[in-house]
Amino acid sequence: MAPSDSDYLDRLTSKYSKLVRFAGALEQPFLNWGYWCDDAGAADGRSRAVASESLVRRVARLADQRGAASLLDVGCGTGGSTVALARHLDVPSLIGVDLCGASIDFANDYLKATALQDRVRFLAANAVELPFEDASFDTVTAIECAFHFHPRTRFFEAANRLLRPGGQLIMTDWIQGRASRTLIGRIISGWALKYWDIPKANIVNLDGYETSLRHAGFCTVSVTPIADKIIPHYARYVATPKGFDELSIAMGRMKTRLYIGLVKLVHAAYRMGLVDYVIVEARKD
Ligand SMILES: C[S@@+](CC[C@H](N)C(=O)[O-])C[C@H]1O[C@@H](n2cnc3c(N)ncnc32)[C@H](O)[C@@H]1O
Repeated sequence: MAPSDSDYLDRLTSKYSKLVRFAGALEQPFLNWGYWCDDAGAADGRSRAVASESLVRRVARLADQRGAASLLDVGCGTGGSTVALARHLDVPSLIGVDLCGASIDFANDYLKATALQDRVRFLAANAVELPFEDASFDTVTAIECAFHFHPRTRFFEAANRLLRPGGQLIMTDWIQGRASRTLIGRIISGWALKYWDIPKANIVNLDGYETSLRHAGFCTVSVTPIADKIIPHYARYVATPKGFDELSIAMGRMKTRLYIGLVKLVHAAYRMGLVDYVIVEARKD
């Protein structure tokens, strides 16, 4: 591994270790921005935990459960995504993996409070070096995390290797928007890369994303923007007194003010067509 890779992974692990406090203090095990519309299309008035679980449910809806025996949830964070997938899918065995050991410790404690210990387990692993045999899963999920993987294309190859024929990779992810070639687009991309720990190689738009999945061996590929159900609502949530108080638990008041400013900037970037958020389904032949 190149030194820059290990520096990058250390920085990321340290950042997410601090966020474990957030999950603990709020007693909710999710680290994603949430899907803020229910099936009837109603938005707002929901808690962050409900929205975060709705994002997982949105992913679960795409899973083909016919005969599915095993699921791997990569970048599972504090375990909420894997446990919610276990609740929403009839799959006997689920494994959640994350780079951050502190998150995996939290996930294991959280699992003890559920009745899912015979179906779910967690372990620490890097998404681009997954310690499993070829063709050992029917479904691989990665909810709001692949933009961090160094690089994401190596994760696509790993997921393809781990899936059985006919298996599915289902993800949500941040991508570059259609208008990102402008100067302002390049400036905002540069800042986002730094603040959100996104390797440069992962900055691709929707067409580039689809192409990378096909190069990794996936045949049927669908990449659908869903940012309108996520970014404006999360931006509104962080600006509420409740959102501010919740975030302050993890970051303190000063950093929360800065973070809210950055979220507003992401919202502006989305409105300008510079960033997007997608749900992805890719199938192996
Ligand atoms: C925004 S959180 C999402 C967590 C979870 N999927 C959820 O929905 O709550 C992103 C997660 O990706 C993990 N991550 C980042 N890079 C990783 C890598 N190379 N391998 C495994 N996990 C990684 C982080 O530690 C973090 O827990």
